[in-house]
Amino acid sequence: MSAALEPALPELGLAQYLDLSAHAGLDPVTRARRDAQLGLKAGSAVLDVGCGTGEDVRALAQWVGPTGRAVGVDVNEGLLEEAARRGGGPNVEWHLGDATALPFADATFDAVRAERVFQHLDAPQRAAAELYRVLKPGGVVRLLDQDWESLSIAGADPALTRRICRAFVDGTANGRAGPRHLELLRRAGFVEREVMVRAPWVSYAVALPGVLQPAVFFAHFAQAASEAETAQWLAALRAADAQGDFACSFVFYEVTARKCAAGHS
Ligand SMILES: C[S@@+](CC[C@H](N)C(=O)[O-])C[C@H]1O[C@@H](n2cnc3c(N)ncnc32)[C@H](O)[C@@H]1O
Repeated sequence: MSAALEPALPELGLAQYLDLSAHAGLDPVTRARRDAQLGLKAGSAVLDVGCGTGEDVRALAQWVGPTGRAVGVDVNEGLLEEAARRGGGPNVEWHLGDATALPFADATFDAVRAERVFQHLDAPQRAAAELYRVLKPGGVVRLLDQDWESLSIAGADPALTRRICRAFVDGTANGRAGPRHLELLRRAGFVEREVMVRAPWVSYAVALPGVLQPAVFFAHFAQAASEAETAQWLAALRAADAQGDFACSFVFYEVTARKCAAGHS
């Protein structure tokens, strides 16, 4: 974390941040309905790409039962160790691997998902091709990502906020991942694409480590705002939160599609 960043929260590790932010604004009923769209049944094999600490993998393991496979893959060894430490049962597996070169054979999975992962990828189209490859014909893919261009924050000077938010979307590898998923999946060969959008309201406690501090980092990097300006911005947002005036939201895309039943590989 940059020295200029205000430590309004104790510094969070990535695993703690994932715990804090997982499914922000998503109630358990909506979450279960969302998982149901993967079409899993007892005995299915499902892959979560960029699984982090594995919360979704453990939930998916319930859907596929003891005869199925719920598999998490991630490039971050530390997060995978934490996922394994948290456990998950005999039908759960953890693998080290990159979304753009998945360590699985062709046509292995009935469903594949990736949540808040494609926004970090420099080569999202290669990753989409990998998801296609490891899916069985007729299998379902689900990508979930923000459109950081839609980031809306109230509580500080609007012009400065605009500059810092612009640096955030431009600095993120694939900052407009969400709305690009439809095209990405079509180009990878997927059919029956469906999109659902949500606009979660994000609390200051979640926004600070997940949005505000990264935005300040990118603003400094791009020289879009000085250290004094970002310190003033963070202080204004913290004061706004104390008054109950802080607001933060963005559009979140959930895109589902299918590999053709006679899918080419
Ligand atoms: C914001 S976290 C999301 C974790 C989890 N999917 C969730 O929604 O809680 C992004 C995850 O993607 C992983 N990741 C980033 N780039 C990756 C890549 N190229 N291949 C696989 N995983 C990647 C990170 O290590 C991290 O666990």
